[in-house]
Amino acid sequence: MNNFSYQNTTQIHFGQGQISAITNSIPKDKKILVTYGGGSIKSNGVYDQVVAALKDHTWDEFSGIEPNPQFDTLMKAVEKIRAEGFDYLLAVGGGSVVDGTKFIAAAVGFEGDTWDILAKGADVNSALPLGCILTLPATGSETNIGAVVTRGKEKLAFMNPLVRPQFAVLDPQTTLSLSERQTSNGVVDAYVHVMEQYLTYPVNAKIQDRFAEGILLTLIEEGPKLIDNLQDIEARTNVMWAATQALSGLIGVGVPQDWATHMIGHELTGNFGVDHGRSLTIVLPAVMNVCREEKKAKLLQYAERIWNITEGSEDERIDIAIEKTKQFFSQMKTPVSLGEIDLTQTDVDTAIASLEAHGMTKLGEHGSIDIARSRKVLEVAL
Ligand code: NZQ
Ligand code: ZN
Repeated sequence: MNNFSYQNTTQIHFGQGQISAITNSIPKDKKILVTYGGGSIKSNGVYDQVVAALKDHTWDEFSGIEPNPQFDTLMKAVEKIRAEGFDYLLAVGGGSVVDGTKFIAAAVGFEGDTWDILAKGADVNSALPLGCILTLPATGSETNIGAVVTRGKEKLAFMNPLVRPQFAVLDPQTTLSLSERQTSNGVVDAYVHVMEQYLTYPVNAKIQDRFAEGILLTLIEEGPKLIDNLQDIEARTNVMWAATQALSGLIGVGVPQDWATHMIGHELTGNFGVDHGRSLTIVLPAVMNVCREEKKAKLLQYAERIWNITEGSEDERIDIAIEKTKQFFSQMKTPVSLGEIDLTQTDVDTAIASLEAHGMTKLGEHGSIDIARSRKVLEVAL
């Protein structure tokens, strides 16, 4: 196991009815800006619960943060905050609202072009405090330090401990209004987050491996229950906690990490508007295939511990594990090839050109996925 320092300071309020906990989690003397998306929180009762919980606070709101949050929209919130002097942010929604709010928090006090935070990794030395109420389990953004922001076709990330939410409300009841598509997108996103931190090479990190496998098995067990019944609150509850743990940082300490699937997937989202989760289910099986040599030991462990595959040659076991992974994604009604979403060789060329333009030329846990191998990945995914 590699050395690590670990701290996750987000206080989690988990369970039904926990939105009321924000009353005490946000100091009364703060002027709060509540941020949200396109209105799902108005139709599922979450907004009303926020209003009730903040009845003795001073607050205003900023709505319209899109899925794959847009830089220009977020900058409107930054201007509002600078003009009106808010000093606490409350994000209410999915990963896009949480990510967008993290960017807003970092951008408010930033001097210079705020796009540099994403495009140039510019130093962020201060950020407004923020908390969140998560309504879509998927990204792990609710307790982590990352955020992804989109500007035109550019989809870029930044990380900074200053934007880690101070608290996260995780009330599974808020997820009952998710469509089948958003539900399955979330399940597979969490699954791939685990794979990015697990499917690399062994460093004898037994706790990380077993935790990771526990999350994968939970998602395999609970995800399909939601396809059968979107109102299954028990499954909603387990999926919510699984998704948070998939990217809270815990399973990623002391182990190598990959993230090639995400980086290649981001180009499918940026160029063709593919949902984040669906971009991953297309790319991951192809990454498993193309990187089967360097990932061999972990692929075999994954095959055995997740899918009970113990017979056949190494290559056969790996092939079956990839097939099982695809079957799970298909069961979750997400695509496992570019063809399924009508993308072709020309689109591969486009995605690869922008991957190169973004400097993503040494991906994977060994930095060994160059542009030629990324192209191979997308061609295998055709
Ligand atoms: O905007 P509203 O009206 O709220 O509707 C949203 C949105 O249309 C809707 N929704 C959310 N909660 C709902 C609901 N609809 C009904 N009931 C509810 N309870 O769902 C739609 C999608 O929401 P979005 O926030 O975009 O989805 P998700 O949580 O999957 O977030 C995706 C974004 O997170 C980034 C992705 O790249 C993408 O931009 N990621 C962030 C990460 C991080 N911060 O660590 C890691 C991830 O890998 C990912 O890259
Ligand atoms: Zn993701």
